Formats: sequence, C-alpha cells, structure tokens
Amino acid sequence: MRSTPVSVSDLFKIPIIYGIDLEQNGNSVLYSSNPMGIPHLYILSTMAGSEPRQITSGNDAVMFGSLSPRRDQLVYLQDKDGNELQHLFIVSTEGGEAQRLTEKAYRTSGVDWRPDGKEVTRSFVTKNLCGLEAYDVESKEAYVLREQAKPIFDIHYSHDGKWIACTELGGRDPKNQQILILNRDDPDEALVCSIKDGSKEALPSWSPNDERLAFLSDVKGRNQVVIQDFQGEDRFFLSLSEGEEARGRIGWFPKGDKVVYIVSKHSRSAAYEHPLDGQKTAFPFPEGTILTSEISRNGEIVVAVCSSLSSPPGIYLHKTGSSSSTRLTRRDYEVDLGELSRPESVWYESFDGLKIHSWYIPASYGSPPHPAVVWPHGGPWWQTFDSWSPYLQSISQSGFAVLAPNFRGSTGYGADFRNMDLSDPGGGDLEDVVCGAEWLRKRSEIDGDKIAIMGGSYGGFMTLIALTRKPEVFSVGAALVPVVDWLEMYELSDSAFRSFMQELFEGTPAEKEDLYRERSPITHVYEIGAPILIVHGRQDSRCPIQPVEKFVKKLEEISHPHEFKVQEAEGHGFARVKANIQGVTTAIEYLKKALA
Ligand code: 4NP
Repeated sequence: MRSTPVSVSDLFKIPIIYGIDLEQNGNSVLYSSNPMGIPHLYILSTMAGSEPRQITSGNDAVMFGSLSPRRDQLVYLQDKDGNELQHLFIVSTEGGEAQRLTEKAYRTSGVDWRPDGKEVTRSFVTKNLCGLEAYDVESKEAYVLREQAKPIFDIHYSHDGKWIACTELGGRDPKNQQILILNRDDPDEALVCSIKDGSKEALPSWSPNDERLAFLSDVKGRNQVVIQDFQGEDRFFLSLSEGEEARGRIGWFPKGDKVVYIVSKHSRSAAYEHPLDGQKTAFPFPEGTILTSEISRNGEIVVAVCSSLSSPPGIYLHKTGSSSSTRLTRRDYEVDLGELSRPESVWYESFDGLKIHSWYIPASYGSPPHPAVVWPHGGPWWQTFDSWSPYLQSISQSGFAVLAPNFRGSTGYGADFRNMDLSDPGGGDLEDVVCGAEWLRKRSEIDGDKIAIMGGSYGGFMTLIALTRKPEVFSVGAALVPVVDWLEMYELSDSAFRSFMQELFEGTPAEKEDLYRERSPITHVYEIGAPILIVHGRQDSRCPIQPVEKFVKKLEEISHPHEFKVQEAEGHGFARVKANIQGVTTAIEYLKKALA
C-alpha cells in the first residue's frame, strides 16, 4: 500500500473521450473530450504526431459532433447546463462563428448528414411526440419528416441519399425495437423490419451499394449482426462464440464483403472484422473495452476509443492489414498509471442460483480490513465494463474496495438475462446487489460492518431501494441523480422516457399503478435504515429534481440523517469536471464519516 493515494481531482482531470467521428477518407478524427474541464469538440489529423485543434468552446458542453461528407463543415449538439434539450449548430471545420440550425431545443438521440452534404436530419422528442426533422444547411429551412408516438434513434442515410434507416420502439410487445426505413422525399413511404414482436433490432448500417443493411438483433437470444437484403426477404446472422455479444454501430469494408463491429464478452470488448462468409478476427487494439470504433470509407483505417478500469481512454488507429495499432491522443495527465488499482473479474451466485458477473476493484489505500462500496450501474440496461471510470478508481484510491455487479437486467449477458428485470425493477436485481454485499462480507480483507452502496441514476435508484427495502444490509448510501418515484417521474417525463418506463414495467402507470408505487423508494422512505447522501443536478430532465426534493423533505420530517447537494447548472450526470470532483469528494467524505 502506498502512503498517498491518487487524488479524486487528479483522476477526474484525466481527459475522457465521449465520442468520435472519423472523416470518410480517414485523414482526421472529430472527437469530444474534456481537457479544459468541460467536454468540447476537437479535430485531430490521423498523421502520427499531430496536435488536436479545438473547435467548440464556452460554458456548455458539446459531446456529439458529426463531420459533413464534404468535410468543410460539422454539426454538433449542445444543451443548456445539462438539460439534454439540444440545439443543432453548424460550424466550419476551420473554426469561426457557429450558426444555430434549429428553432427549438429537443432531446436528440440521432443525427446524420445526407451524403450530398446539403441536409442534416435529427431525431426529436417532446412531451407527447417523437419524430425526425431535416434541415437545409444553407437556407436553414426545416422539414418534419415524421411524427409518431414512439421514439426514434440511430439515423443513417443510404449512400444514394434516398433512404433514411433508423431504430424505433413500437410493436405490441413493449420491449420490441425495430428498423424503420423512410423514403427521404416521400417520408410516408416507410418500411419496417421487425424479425419478431418482442425482439430488438437496432443500429442499421447501409452496405456500400445500398443493397443490404447490417444491424443488431437479439432474436436468437443475444445481440448478433444480421445482414439483410434491403427490399428483400433474405437475411443471415454472423456467428459468435459462447458468451459473446455484438454491440455498437457496424461498419462496412468498401467491397461489401466484410463488416467491422465490437464484440463484448463478460464486460470486456474488442473490435473485429468479419467476412460475411467466414470467421471474425480481432483488430490489434489494447485490451480492455472498446465502446466506439469507425472505419474509413476506403477500408484502410479503423479508429477506436480504448480504455480499461486501470487505463484512461485514448483514440487508437489501426491500418487494416497491419499487425499493430498506434495511439493518436496524448497521455495528457499527471497520474502514474502504475498507481491505479487493477480490477478482478469475479462471478458469484445470487439468491436463486443465478450467476452474476462483477468487477472487484481492491482498495488501493489504507490497511485491511477495508470498508467497501457496492456500485450498481445505471441503465438499468447497461453494464459496468472494464472501461475507464474515474468514479470507481476514486473510490478505490480513497481506501474502499469496490464491487460493481452486472445484476440481472444488465446488457452483455444475453437477451433473457437482460429481460429479467421487466416488471421487476428493484426486485431480483436488488437481491443480486444484496448478494454482492454478502460476497464482500466473506472476504478477509473486507470489514463486513462497513459496506456502503453508491450509484448514479438507476444505480441511485438501487441505492435508495436497498436502503429502504433492505435496511439491515448497508451501513450508508450515496445516491447520485437517482430515481425516487416512478409515478411522479412518469408524469414529468417526455414520450421517450415514458416509453422506457412502459418497457421496464411492461405497462403504463394506469395499467400497473401498484407496481410503479411499490417499486418507488419514496413509498418506503420511512423505513430507511442508513444515513444517505443525495447528489442531484437542478437541470436534470431524465430524473427531474421535484420528486427528489419531496423525498428529502420526508427525510427531514423524520430527522433521518442525510445530506442533499444540488448542482444548479448540471443535469443527469455532470458534464463539468469541477462538478464531478465536488460530487464524488462529497460522497466519499460522507461515506467515510458515516463509517468512522
Ligand atoms: P439511467 O436511469 O438510465 O441510469 O439514467 C434512468 C433514468 C430515467 C429513467 C429510467 C432510468 N426514466 O425512465 O425516465
């Protein structure tokens, strides 16, 4: 054990990479990162030794940008103080003044350029409607292409510019997700590709000649790549090995004979090329997790964002056919990576025998027996990957061991496992988290009387439902931007998050009011066992603060030990490094004090 830990602020000052867009010819990459303390866009040439050029600036984060096919411009999304209601802006790749393309700020989860570079389409969500809107980048004229009840994501124009493929929710089964393809010039002409009601098809990608689509489907029990004839019935699945799942957007080699995609197994992942008539092979990127990768149009360059729980993210470049990859972004940080805690991949059995995969991050400071933190991830349809997390590393550096369980409902372990939380949030998944605490208690280096729970969003929900429904298990909790009341949140939500809750509960509040109420921490607030810290962002539009304030008021009524910290200019998960340092430092100090 070292005498001084790596500080929370040094860990959060390590730049994160939020997203990338590779220029079609592979000459440069646009990415969002936060070396200045707030996410902004940078362009970096893919030539060795290049310096990034900052494109956007200012007090509001930019986490998404997309380069024009003509390469002279880019569009980006920007909200106000993390409220996730975004405007679309356009700016020259040389920099200069950005122009706003949109009249209204909407929650947006998909943006794409028409291949002629004259138009951009985005998805939008309002209280009662979802849809697609296109903008002429010269005249700024807007055209509503589609309005519907269910949300649309992942927009992708065909190479000839005639069609737009996307992912939409909808179907009789509330978990159904399907591919929607619109005729750009006659958007009422729409085709739907749904393999089965209740299966999830997602992330369509056009083959170079537009005759096929590659997308993900879980219809065979886990996410696999499907190659489907456009306007035909033929389809086939690319095979995977035991325990593997496909994820992320699929890229095509120029001849249309091979695709590029990410495969994850037990919450680590790698990027592969997969000939349509053969076996896949992994690209030589560093080990850990790849959350995004892209291939240039000529098939010569693949870039990927690579990281692990003990190595910060970098953008790596691989020339196809070569046997290596090179790091494009600098290691712009003070931290000695040798000082970081290394995760262990562990499995434990839950109450009903189900095997739960988790990351165990030993305490990197202090002497045993150590206190410990159970960290349930957000989502719930997500997973803790072996990917960079300043949160988990900060907790470990502060003297806590961490267990991050991929409880039932997590992605990455097949469709049945993913669907196990339907109609049961805060039920079986909570039992898995409780069994995680029991697993920690059995370890000799852990102080079994000092087990905390901490998490964000759905992980914040798990924290509060654990403290109220299982008051004997945890000694203290820290809930970041939590869900406290599904019923009130539904009332305050837009149509996208209402659909989300309808899927999770397999019904609306009108149909399943008792379940929505029974699974809400606020219903059980008077049974809360341990001290609790709640950290929230005033501008949060996913988990609005009003019900959280009511929850805190009830804690005050019964004089239950608690603290409530609000970041006024932040939303659902904080964009600014400073706000994250404050939030995590407060949380760790709170846990330490409660366990002293
Ligand atoms: P998160 O948690 O996905 O972890 O951010 C949730 C936030 C909002 C909702 C559900 C989960 N919602 O339904 O609004």
